[in-house]
Amino acid sequence: MALRLEPLNRSHRPLLADFQNPQASLVDYLQRYALRHAEKDLLARTYLALDTAMGTPRLAGYFSLATVSVERASVVRLPELDRLPRFPIPGILLARLAVDTRVRGQGLGRYLFEEALGLTLQLAQTGPVAFRLFVTDAIDAEAARFCQHFGLVPLGDDFPCRMVLDLRPLLPNRSST
Ligand SMILES: CC(C)(COP(=O)(O)OP(=O)(O)OC[C@H]1O[C@@H](n2cnc3c(N)ncnc32)[C@H](O)[C@@H]1OP(=O)(O)O)[C@@H](O)C(=O)NCCC(=O)NCCS
Repeated sequence: MALRLEPLNRSHRPLLADFQNPQASLVDYLQRYALRHAEKDLLARTYLALDTAMGTPRLAGYFSLATVSVERASVVRLPELDRLPRFPIPGILLARLAVDTRVRGQGLGRYLFEEALGLTLQLAQTGPVAFRLFVTDAIDAEAARFCQHFGLVPLGDDFPCRMVLDLRPLLPNRSST
């Protein structure tokens, strides 16, 4: 596979119809809402992983990012976060991530996750805003296992299950205090 990541725009419309995933809501979101959310409603931005190995690009997977605020009282399972002041904790939300069924198990999920986290860390390091968490809401136990594999910690036991990754250890230390 020769992968390229592109922010979703109108020119990608013809590629969306063929996307396949067992989670119908993830297919529906991509085909019906993702473009509107990115361009009109400003609710989330979606990125497509395009496989260009065969010449014509094929849609292999996607993820969507938005912002989120996590209730301070919900992070007691993470000692580092439990020491923070009693204010909501800002973060970037990995709102959706899905791989086309026909290319599952070939490293696409890892590619998408690492690209989403990479964009988040870039924003945390060079952007004009501060935030502490990388967050997702796992739809089911399989999604939660996938996210746990990459270090996200579940904040509860029910589904959808909010999961968080503390970004602080991944960022250069800005303060000597
Ligand atoms: C979960 C999903 C994204 C995995 O995609 P994939 O392309 O098959 O995953 P990869 O081949 O890149 O696997 C990446 C790593 O995750 C692991 N992994 C994949 N699925 C996993 C699962 N269900 N549970 C635990 N680990 C999993 C793999 O073993 C692999 O580990 P390694 O890189 O250390 O060897 C895909 O199955 C999917 O679209 N599922 C439906 C939507 C979903 O659950 N999204 C996650 C929302 S956060």
